[in-house]
Amino acid sequence: MRNPEPVPEYLIQSEAVRERFARLKAREVVLDVRHVGKRYRSARGEVVALSDVSFRTHRREFVCVIGPSGCGKSTLIRILAGLESHTSGEVLLDGKPVRGPGADRGMVFQGYTLFPWLTVKKNVMFGLKMNGSSAGEAEREALQWLDLVGLTPFADVYPHQLSGGMKQRVAIARSLANRPRILLMDEPFGALDAQTRAKMQAHLIDIWRNIDVTILFITHDLDEAIMLADRILVLKANPGEVQELIEVPVPRPREAAQLTTREFTATKARLEALIHPKPIGGDGGDDVGRPHMIRMTDVTDNVE
Ligand SMILES: Nc1ncnc2c1ncn2[C@@H]1O[C@H](COP(=O)(O)OP(=O)(O)O)[C@@H](O)[C@H]1O
Ligand SMILES: [Mg+2]
Repeated sequence: MRNPEPVPEYLIQSEAVRERFARLKAREVVLDVRHVGKRYRSARGEVVALSDVSFRTHRREFVCVIGPSGCGKSTLIRILAGLESHTSGEVLLDGKPVRGPGADRGMVFQGYTLFPWLTVKKNVMFGLKMNGSSAGEAEREALQWLDLVGLTPFADVYPHQLSGGMKQRVAIARSLANRPRILLMDEPFGALDAQTRAKMQAHLIDIWRNIDVTILFITHDLDEAIMLADRILVLKANPGEVQELIEVPVPRPREAAQLTTREFTATKARLEALIHPKPIGGDGGDDVGRPHMIRMTDVTDNVE
């Protein structure tokens, strides 16, 4: 008798991780995306940005979405935010269909979206007042959220006086202040340097741990996805489809030292295989291969 196929390493979970996923999946479903499709009509014809995308997220789950450029990540998050309509399927938030934007969803984009003419505190107060809080209530709440993101000393400064990481902390405070059920983040740390980015990841996890919010986080950085997510939704391009919803086997709490663990490297290898598959039969597909190099120096010794 032949041996059964070995289980791929990224699917192997420790007892503690398995139990954690069982608890997570026992929680209620917050977001239910059912067979969502999106077609754009453009001058160059029709683009299928998303095709038959289905997945669910549970309460207080952290889901990352990854995939190559153009696979529909931003389209998906804009549909969930109600900023864009889908052409087929259904999006349910707490069982109710999403039609247009709402305070039950918060958004943080890569670009800094603070109002430059308002102080940090007033930026956070803005949405609260829009949703009916009095000025006094809004101020009290805003100060609490600024405290949570560690920006109390900066309440009265203007956005241009802040670093990129601090601006994104204000953006996070502002979107959480309305107590959304789900926080939608589209490459929020994409413009930050590596060190600030790592700090922001740790900070976001601290915030998430302390409040009742589900997070959907788009990134194209594989390490970032593994560091943050409970599960990773992997999309492919043309058309944008779900390839796999991966349960990250790396235990929590996460820390930089785990970047080299067996669980981490196995997950990363799986993501790489899905996102940058080896072309069948050598060079092929969209891969142009290595350019032909002409030697343009007379110096005879090699640099390597
Ligand atoms: N408003 C639009 N009109 C036409 N095509 C669009 C529009 N927005 C996005 N697309 C196309 O849809 C596909 C998915 O885009 P997008 O969601 O921005 O991908 P990603 O965020 O993964 O890079 C791409 O082919 C893009 O060119
Ligand atoms: Mg995008």
